[in-house]
Amino acid sequence: MNIETIRVKNFKALRDVEIKDVPAYCVFVGRNGTGKSTLFRVFAFLKNCLAKNVRAALNIEGGRNGLREVLSRGHEQEDLEIEIQCRLDIAGTNRLVTYHLEIGETSDKVTIVKREILRYKRGRHGSPFHFIDFANGEGYAINNEEAFDKPDSELERESQKLDSPDTLAIKGLGQFERFKAASAFRQLIENWHISDFHINSARGDKEEEDAKHLSPSGDNLPSMARYLYEKHRKVFDSIKQRMQQRVPGVADIAVTVTEDGRLLMRYRDGAFVDPFIDKNVSDGTIKMFAYLVLLADPKPHPILCVEEPENQLYPELMGVLAEEFQQYSERGGQVFVSSHSPDFLNAVPLECIYWLEKEKGETSIHRAADSPLLASLVKAGDLPGYLWNQGLFNSRTLPAS
Ligand SMILES: Nc1ncnc2c1ncn2[C@@H]1O[C@H](COP(=O)(O)OP(=O)(O)OP(=O)(O)O)[C@@H](O)[C@H]1O
Ligand SMILES: [Mg+2]
Repeated sequence: MNIETIRVKNFKALRDVEIKDVPAYCVFVGRNGTGKSTLFRVFAFLKNCLAKNVRAALNIEGGRNGLREVLSRGHEQEDLEIEIQCRLDIAGTNRLVTYHLEIGETSDKVTIVKREILRYKRGRHGSPFHFIDFANGEGYAINNEEAFDKPDSELERESQKLDSPDTLAIKGLGQFERFKAASAFRQLIENWHISDFHINSARGDKEEEDAKHLSPSGDNLPSMARYLYEKHRKVFDSIKQRMQQRVPGVADIAVTVTEDGRLLMRYRDGAFVDPFIDKNVSDGTIKMFAYLVLLADPKPHPILCVEEPENQLYPELMGVLAEEFQQYSERGGQVFVSSHSPDFLNAVPLECIYWLEKEKGETSIHRAADSPLLASLVKAGDLPGYLWNQGLFNSRTLPAS
């Protein structure tokens, strides 16, 4: 598992939320507008902050008004805060690292990173040590953090000024080997996969690329299928077999090279001799194949976020799909899924389910297993999806706090 705690303040409907002891597999449910996508956008936002800069990432979330539009309504005077606690391997040692980010405006309304801290405990005792500490574009980073023989007081601080106060320190410093925590955290975020799958992007002939992972939009599906076929034949065969079981008529799936050297997926129906090009294959067929390719990735992403995987798929397939997401998390990738499907939820352990509620414009997030009623009903054999359908995922079932 990678992320242990997530804390968000003033990010749209997420006025002040915290999820502790985040499991390796998390499924979020809740009525429309309660903040599921917003939570996933926090991950995308951090990724964009690294890939671009903070202002550009805010524009993606909030349009041209940027931060103003992103801050929780009624709290525009406060800063946006994100804190993530995660497990990272730093120079061969597994550490519980906390990354803290505060974004706000200067008095003349310029968006800046007000504070950015990366901290962890080096020894068993003592308080967490700041390995990176920046405010308004200036700060320091420790450059001999793994000098185990040295006490905290003798670690070397290297003062730095960032190119711009809307750049993350982990972006600049994370490029350098000597800032080990920064580069480990940077790499973690860069490898998050936030799915934005579009069936039509996956269709059609494609330029062959050196794919090792399915892209977020799925537009490299033929290259990825070819990679699995060439380099991981057993994985490819198992995907094909599951397609045959799940999608009536699918007999074979193959990637072919077109005359002009592009890749094209073809699906053969057992009733016909010639395969269909993917343009003429159903949406659900392509989506199921893409999910199987995504979830069979030989090298799981540290974090995988998928919204509403049930769309376009036959309800009966939800159980196996939910289990496949869980298996992915057991192979090392932490999985975040949102869903409106009771069939999907029926196959998810209660400990992995969170429900979101919104009151007076503010989201709250609740762990289903914290409800004694839900826990006892599931223990007695009820399935979470049915209980959710009965309206039992609500804070009245939680112990009074
Ligand atoms: N700046 C903001 N401050 C407070 N609330 C906001 C802000 N911007 C958007 N919202 C609220 O957040 C809601 C969007 O929530 P989100 O898209 O995360 O819901 P969801 O749970 O994914 O819903 P669905 O099930 O429909 O996909 C908007 O409908 C709006 O009410
Ligand atoms: Mg949504």
